[in-house]
Amino acid sequence: MNMEKRANVAVFASGTGSNFDAIMNSPDRNFDVVRLVSDKPKAHVIGKAASFGIQTIVFDPSDYEDKSAYEQELLEQLKRARVEWIVLAGYMRVLGETILDEYKGKIINIHPSLLPSFRGIDAVGQALDAGVKVSGVTIHYVDEGIDTGEIIAQEAVTVFPHDTKESLQRRIQQVEHNIYPRVLNKLTKE
Ligand code: GAR
Repeated sequence: MNMEKRANVAVFASGTGSNFDAIMNSPDRNFDVVRLVSDKPKAHVIGKAASFGIQTIVFDPSDYEDKSAYEQELLEQLKRARVEWIVLAGYMRVLGETILDEYKGKIINIHPSLLPSFRGIDAVGQALDAGVKVSGVTIHYVDEGIDTGEIIAQEAVTVFPHDTKESLQRRIQQVEHNIYPRVLNKLTKE
């Protein structure tokens, strides 16, 4: 049995937090979520973190002069909590060099398309507008670009002719909830 220390993870999220839920509820999770970070003081995910007893770091970027100012403060809090991995789960903000430099190769994102198709916001809507028959989910390392980092895992989701944004997003998220905890388990064990 592997008796090594469990990795400390911070999940960053801006919205509902269904992926955060999936990570927290994953029965064989082999890492600890030590912080939930949110840039949206009213985000639903903050209440979820409280219900799991996870400490939150919540900030409003508009309270700061610029990105490096709030990231510097955030970085200090992450270090104090001994965070080793950053897991983005619907964090709708681009990370700056303050965080990227310190956590190189240790920041993971999940994106609702088969990258490199449909980067950026509203990937599900972009896929429907493009008329693709297959979309999916990508888990990738985060670099300084938008959804450009090295791909770690992908899973395809069929797009049906009658799909709406809501129905396709629902099926994509079902895949996300399954694949993200599994991939994170593997990565954080290395
Ligand atoms: C997820 O579907 C995730 O793939 C997407 O936001 C959703 C968050 O849902 N992320 C992006 O679009 C990032 N570019 P959740 O808050 O219910 O986990």
